[in-house]
Amino acid sequence: MDDKRVVIKTQGLTKKYKDLIAVNNLDLEIYEGEIFGLLGPNGAGKTTTILMLLGLTEPTGGFAQINGLDTIKETIRVKETVGYLPDHVGFYDDMTGRENLRFIGRLNGLEKNIEDRIDNLLERVKLTNVGDKKVGTYSRGMKQRLGIADTLMKDPKVIILDEPTLGLDPEGINDMLGLIVELARKDKRTVLISSHLLHQVQKICDRVGIFVGGELLAIGPIDTLGEKVFKDHDLTLELSVSPVDDKLISLIRSINDDVKIRTDESKIFVDSKEDIRKELTKVLCDNDYKLLFLKQSGRDLDDIYSQYFCAKEGVKK
Ligand SMILES: Nc1ncnc2c1ncn2[C@@H]1O[C@H](COP(=O)(O)OP(=O)(O)OP(=O)(O)O)[C@@H](O)[C@H]1O
Ligand SMILES: [Mg+2]
Repeated sequence: MDDKRVVIKTQGLTKKYKDLIAVNNLDLEIYEGEIFGLLGPNGAGKTTTILMLLGLTEPTGGFAQINGLDTIKETIRVKETVGYLPDHVGFYDDMTGRENLRFIGRLNGLEKNIEDRIDNLLERVKLTNVGDKKVGTYSRGMKQRLGIADTLMKDPKVIILDEPTLGLDPEGINDMLGLIVELARKDKRTVLISSHLLHQVQKICDRVGIFVGGELLAIGPIDTLGEKVFKDHDLTLELSVSPVDDKLISLIRSINDDVKIRTDESKIFVDSKEDIRKELTKVLCDNDYKLLFLKQSGRDLDDIYSQYFCAKEGVKK
């Protein structure tokens, strides 16, 4: 990634609301043409970060730049280059989709070819057939797609989307994710998505940052993050072996004396600092045990999810 151009950069970016640190010392670099997911549970500080990137709220410390422009000192130029889809899109319900886009376009000083541009965008977000219907009659998915058309009106090279799939049904989510992929891959735009819906959004991201309590816990391609977030945690191996006897337990211990072993009626659980799957399969095979099931957990996406993303359901935070 070293040869890639940095489009969005923050350094020591911090926002305090009285005693609450909403964003703490955030260092982030987002590269040209990538889809980056800022993923974190409710209250993590995602929207606050985005507002600082757009110059809509002032940092308490540090700075943010887009294309080398300081987001506070050069707010107007930043706004010219960035398309922003807020978490709650506001359109005029009693105006049609087309009228809303026209209104926004004119506000942005876009007059030339505006009708052609609107036609193209409505087609792109698959709203051509309802473009002349009032937005008040649109579904949430349709409003979100109109929101994408809105962010594209000024043809920005950088797009920031705050919770773009929130409240959409599965088809709406797929449409939205498909559109976002096109923005990066086909149009070569840089896309920053914020979301608390880890599983939904991660699949289209080139890299993600796991953001919790205003802190960036880890950053990178999604399949590397579990290792980074949980590097000091034990791995848990769940296995089913036949037969289960005392020799089996000592064989497992012979791989590494540090492991903790628990058993229930059908499974054996081995907590270990290291990944011992290879050694374990070999030792079982060499000693004529039959391995019926083997699963390792403790450092993958589901672990990130259950540790940080489902506090609402009563899972520890
Ligand atoms: N204007 C404000 N005044 C005081 N506190 C605020 C303000 N805006 C946000 N906060 C607090 O800052 C923290 C981060 O909020 P933020 O909205 O950035 O989180 P988020 O990650 O976008 O969450 P969500 O997933 O719910 O959208 C929260 O604790 C929130 O209550
Ligand atoms: Mg938010």
